[in-house]
Amino acid sequence: MFTLITIAAAILGATAQSTTLDIQAIQANFQNALIVPNLLPSFDPSALIALDFSTVGQISPGQNLTQDQVKPTPSITLVPANSSVTLPKNFTLTMVDAGPVGTDESQGQTRHWLVNGVSLTGSASNQSVSTTGATPITDYAGPAPPAGSGPHRYVILLFEQPASFTPPANLSQPNTPVSVFDLNAYAKDSGLGPIVAGMYLTVQNGDTTASLSPTSAVITSTLPAAHSTGSSSASGTKSGSPSPSTTASAASPLVVMNTVFTFTVFGLALFILL
Ligand SMILES: *[C@@H]1O[C@H](CO)[C@@H](O)[C@H](O)[C@H]1NC(C)=O
Ligand SMILES: *[C@@H]1O[C@H](CO)[C@@H](O)[C@H](O)[C@H]1NC(C)=O
Ligand SMILES: *[C@@H]1O[C@H](CO)[C@@H](O)[C@H](O)[C@H]1NC(C)=O
Ligand SMILES: *[C@@H]1O[C@H](CO)[C@@H](O)[C@H](O)[C@H]1NC(C)=O
Ligand SMILES: *[C@@H]1O[C@H](CO)[C@@H](O)[C@H](O)[C@H]1NC(C)=O
Repeated sequence: MFTLITIAAAILGATAQSTTLDIQAIQANFQNALIVPNLLPSFDPSALIALDFSTVGQISPGQNLTQDQVKPTPSITLVPANSSVTLPKNFTLTMVDAGPVGTDESQGQTRHWLVNGVSLTGSASNQSVSTTGATPITDYAGPAPPAGSGPHRYVILLFEQPASFTPPANLSQPNTPVSVFDLNAYAKDSGLGPIVAGMYLTVQNGDTTASLSPTSAVITSTLPAAHSTGSSSASGTKSGSPSPSTTASAASPLVVMNTVFTFTVFGLALFILL
């Protein structure tokens, strides 16, 4: 009995650990792609987001996708960072084009998606984002960056939407077309709460003529959660390469690593049992 509890606790612990590591990987990718601090002054999510396109499945942070791949509206699920996190009831969901690395964000962002009153459905440990009963201000518009303008960063964010939320008059009605707005001014003026979760992807149209600085790799073994595991499987694993797009496609070693870690803990617990 005691051993069974030990095994269960070890598995739960490993799951929370890997969620923390996955969240830290997204945070590191946001910094690496200069989404923080250029678009967002800070990014401290309390949940892990999974963004799923019917064309490619679940994407990794910064994944380089084609316009065709991002045409369908993605589905979104959230996993709280740990069991002490209580997710809000109401969210505002948005996707903005932060442009290529180096873009002057004070000029605003193109709004590709804005939905108020988004809720969660499903089990507490993995909840689906639902737009049923929500107010779609700007319906999802798949990225279509201008040809030759470089790799654009599309940032998807879920803000906590408190009861006191008051949208500006010109962004309060459904069917408001895609246009440029100031994400931070909108969040502040309407009284949105903190960002609960976020993700980004990259779309490029044709060869780039832009001379903007590329981003560098995210080494997951340097993330704080990788150190606190004390697991050798966490060290030396490189989950990124020197561009936002390849950083993304290289996230699978991270998944593999987490799986390895979970099984290591499981194996240890089993060893104690025997
Ligand atoms: C749970 O996650 C939140 C959000 O990331 C964090 O602030 C908090 O310290 C974590 N609590 C524990 C017990 O790990
Ligand atoms: C939640 O569960 C779904 C279905 O099993 C999965 O595709 C998704 O990745 C999970 N979400 C997270 C954030 O792990
Ligand atoms: C990203 O994908 C586009 C095609 O959608 C391609 O032109 C571009 O070279 C890719 N960039 C990288 C860094 O792989
Ligand atoms: C949730 O959002 C919807 C749509 O914005 C709003 O009508 C509703 O009052 C909100 N509920 C709470 C509890 O804030
Ligand atoms: C809404 O109105 C504000 C203030 O008049 C203006 O600065 C902003 O550009 C408008 N936003 C949109 C999306 O039209």
